[in-house]
Formats: sequence, C-alpha cells, structure tokens
Amino acid sequence: MSIMVVTGGNRGIGYAVCERLAGDGHTVLLVARDAERGRQAAARIGGDVQAVAGDLTTAESVRRLAADLLDRCPRIDVLVHNAGLWPARRVLTEDGLEESFAVNHLAPFLLNHLLEDRLGRVVQVTAGLYVKGRAEPGRTAVGAAFSPMRTYADTKLCNLLTVPLFAERWRTAGITIDAVHPGVIRTGLGDRRGPLGWLLRAAKRSWAAPEEGARHVVSLTGAAGTGRYFDQDRQVPLQGPALDADLARRVWDEAEALAAAR
Ligand SMILES: NC(=O)c1ccc[n+]([C@@H]2O[C@H](COP(=O)([O-])OP(=O)(O)OC[C@H]3O[C@@H](n4cnc5c(N)ncnc54)[C@H](OP(=O)(O)O)[C@@H]3O)[C@@H](O)[C@H]2O)c1
Repeated sequence: MSIMVVTGGNRGIGYAVCERLAGDGHTVLLVARDAERGRQAAARIGGDVQAVAGDLTTAESVRRLAADLLDRCPRIDVLVHNAGLWPARRVLTEDGLEESFAVNHLAPFLLNHLLEDRLGRVVQVTAGLYVKGRAEPGRTAVGAAFSPMRTYADTKLCNLLTVPLFAERWRTAGITIDAVHPGVIRTGLGDRRGPLGWLLRAAKRSWAAPEEGARHVVSLTGAAGTGRYFDQDRQVPLQGPALDADLARRVWDEAEALAAAR
C-alpha cells in the first residue's frame, strides 16, 4: 500500500481525503498546523493514520515540516497539497508575506522542492476561481491591493501557474503532478464575521459535503498523467491568465527568490 501525505488533513476536504485514503488501506500522514487537532483527527479516522504537525505559514516552518517528513518517509507515493486559506483581511506573516500567498502558493512550491527526491506524485488542490485571479509579481506576495473577495483567487492562480512548470521539471524523474478544483464544498473555508459571513454560512447549507470534494481529489491520487487541470472529475484546459507562460516563469522565479531569502 502507498504512503500518502495530506496537508490540512484535520478538517474539511483534507479530512475527508485522509478518511478515504485510510479506508483504502494506505498509510496516511495527516498534516495539521495544530498538533492536538491533528492527533484528534487521526484518532477519529483510525487505520494507519499518523498525525504530523506542520504549519505552512513561514518558510522556516515549512522547512521543519519537510525535515520531519523526510525523517518519517522512505518515499512519498503521493503528496496532496490541500491546506488552503481564504483571507478576510490582509495579514502579513513573520516573513512579511500576505498569509494566503504564503499558505496557498509559497508553501506547496517550497515543499515540492524540499521533498522532490522522495516524491512519486503530487495532487495540487486548486480552485476554479483562479480564472478571476491576477498574479502580480512583487505585489500579490505582500497583499498590495488586498481584496477579501479576490486575493484568494490571485494566490490560487500563482500556485496553478507553477503546476505545468513542475510537470516539466519532473518529466525525466517520473514524478507527476495534476491540479484539481474539488467543487463548491461546505467547509469552513472563508468563514468570517459580519453580514458577509452570515450570508456565506447561509449559502453553504446547499453546497456539497466534504466527501464529495474529497472524491475528486482521491481519484487523482491514483491517476496517470501530468501537468493537467481537472474541474472535479473532468480534465479541462487551463484558461486565461493560467496560460501566460511568461507570467508563469516570473511567478516561479519570484517564489524561488522569496523562499531562498527566508
Ligand atoms: N470548499 C470549497 O468550496 C473549495 C473550493 C475550491 C477549492 N477549495 C480548496 O480546497 C482546499 C481545502 O479547503 P477546505 O474547503 O477543506 O477548507 P477548510 O475546511 O477551511 O480547511 C482548510 C485546511 O487548511 C489548513 N490550513 C490553513 N492555514 C494553514 C496553515 N497556515 N498551515 C497549515 N494548515 C493550514 C486548515 O487548518 P486549521 O484547521 O488549523 O485552520 C485546514 O486543515 C483548499 O486548498 C481550498 O482552497 C475549496
């Protein structure tokens, strides 16, 4: 059976992904930023699920997580980048970066580099909202022009722009990577106070359950192919800003420089 690492595994879609993978008999390393919440989630699922503490907010904490995973895993058959954040306000991390840029984009970028010698396959959980995003090297990273509605899409676009480049980088090594939009799913994502929070909570009542989003993520863990984008269970071409090869290269170079400086 395979060794699967899932970030943000303590709740939402990530939890349901861990549950399914463990149910299929895999060894699951459930990464959660809060160690106790991770342990509780792993215990609830049962099977061969190990909780791993890992905060994705700073380059230093990502490096600690990578070192821990390298210690524990002789190989990582599949790494699922699931952890994500929809920010309600501009918060800068200790690295001086906008928090959702750090968690949604820079952390998977850095983990891919730090773990690549052990990787077989990567599934990147993205969001269909990337089409509304604008990736602006030098600006998105620090939350210039922060918007509680659009910044999430900007960071998801930055992240998605790197997926075809990782596919290319890893082609001869045989590591594969695909990205998936899990659907519109009833989780804690984007929860906030105030009237908007109330409206969002009301809208979420009709959204699909986390298990539905997890189904699309899990089905990709065992798939062959690389550099592809899936809208739930359907492979579709990337659109608009995600096709800009020059922008992709600039986003990649910026992420490399930001990670190296921290
Ligand atoms: N729900 C949707 O409709 C939807 C649609 C499209 C894409 N997605 C994507 O699906 C993925 C999962 O989202 P979800 O809906 O399940 O959201 P969720 O219920 O809010 O769960 C998010 C997970 O990410 C973790 N996380 C956030 N910041 C972190 C950090 N700094 N370090 C480590 N972990 C962190 C959270 O940990 P804590 O519990 O500690 O906060 C939690 O485990 C995300 O990438 C999201 O963008 C979701």
